[in-house]
This record gives sequence, C-alpha cells and structure tokens, in this order.
Amino acid sequence: MTMKRVDQTPEKTTPPVPELAPLPNDLTAAVKFSLPADEDMSTVAGLRAGSEPWKGRGESAEESLQALTKLRPFIQVGKLQTQLVGYVTVERDGPVPGAAYMRNIVVKPELRRKGVGMLLLNHGIQVARDMHRKTVALRVDPANSPAVSFYRKAGFTTVATVVSKKSGKLRLLMSREL
Ligand SMILES: CC(C)(COP(=O)(O)OP(=O)(O)OC[C@H]1O[C@@H](n2cnc3c(N)ncnc32)[C@H](O)[C@@H]1OP(=O)(O)O)[C@@H](O)C(=O)NCCC(=O)NCCS
Repeated sequence: MTMKRVDQTPEKTTPPVPELAPLPNDLTAAVKFSLPADEDMSTVAGLRAGSEPWKGRGESAEESLQALTKLRPFIQVGKLQTQLVGYVTVERDGPVPGAAYMRNIVVKPELRRKGVGMLLLNHGIQVARDMHRKTVALRVDPANSPAVSFYRKAGFTTVATVVSKKSGKLRLLMSREL
C-alpha cells in the first residue's frame, strides 16, 4: 500500500495590504502645513497628475512636476506626521485684480470627504490674508462637480463665466471675501 505524503509546509498566504492609519479625531491639530521639501515635489506632482481635472487632460507626472516647480513658492503642503495628505497653491495675483489666486487644491484620493480639503482651503485663506489680500479667487471647470460643491460649501460664489485661454473651455470664476 502506498502512503499519501502529506505536505506539512504551512500554506503560503499573501501578506495583508497595509491599511492607512486611522485619521486622528482632531484633524485640525494633526495636519501641519509647510512649504514643500525637495522630496515632497514628486509626491505633489503624482497627486496632481492622478486627480481631476489634470488626469482627464492626460497630464503626465512629469508635466505636473514641471508646472508645480514653477509654482513652488506658492505651494503649501499638508502633512499628517510624515504622510503628505494634500496641497494648495496661493498666489498674490491672479485673474481678479486685487485678489489672491488659489490655482490648485488637491487631497490624497483615499482621504477625501474627511475634512482635509477644508483644512487646506482654510490654511490657503490664511496665507492670502497674510498677503494682505481681502478676496481670494479661483477658476474651476463647471463639470468638476465635487470641486464646485466644495467651493460653494466654503463660501465661494460665481462671479463670472470665462473661457480658458489654454483649452477654450468654460470655467467658473469664483471668489470669496476673506
Ligand atoms: C475638491 C477636493 C479638494 C475636496 O477635498 P475633500 O478633502 O474631499 O473635502 P472635504 O472633506 O473637506 O469636504 C468639505 C465639503 O465639500 C463638499 N464636497 C467635497 N467633496 C465633495 C463631493 N465629492 N461631492 C459633493 N460635495 C463634496 C461637501 O459639502 C463636503 O462636506 P461634507 O463631507 O460634510 O458633505 C478633493 O475632492 C480633490 O482633491 N479633488 C481633486 C482635485 C480637484 O478637483 N481640485 C479642485 C480643482 S483645482
């Protein structure tokens, strides 16, 4: 009689995918803002290239990095300990004379709808106040409904509809008093 050999080696299991650490209850105190360090620039570029509206336009991470390198003095990154959770850009001048300009705001996709965007926006508003501005303006694609809802929730109103020089598409010009 032949004995069936029983394999004693333990079953190979796939290691669990590490989950994101739970967000702290007090996000406001936990998220710290700063100018981006050199090593943050590729993360910020990856965030932009992977998010609407740039993703839909087919912007590569390299193109995002080029654009953000020019904007670097105006970028503020938000970090939870060492994890970069999003960024916002605030320039002193933009399409509305006398108003600061918020060109980009992006939250890491897996952390959206948890209040991080509003923290970044409030920080951007403080940066604009520090520039002695009384109004902040931005342009948004009306098809980007999450962003339009987000800006409305933050108190922005549409002041004009403009045609983008770059794409020829309509954009909402929104602003808010500070
Ligand atoms: C827009 C964006 C920055 C919002 O960040 P967020 O961290 O998800 O926003 P918050 O959690 O602070 O949301 C605040 C409020 O905005 C509104 N809002 C945010 N995302 C929304 C969505 N997807 N749909 C509808 N309303 C939304 C809600 O009123 C929300 O409050 P609630 O969650 O209590 O309902 C984020 O969706 C993002 O990074 N999008 C991709 C990049 C982009 O489009 N940027 C804007 C153009 S530059």
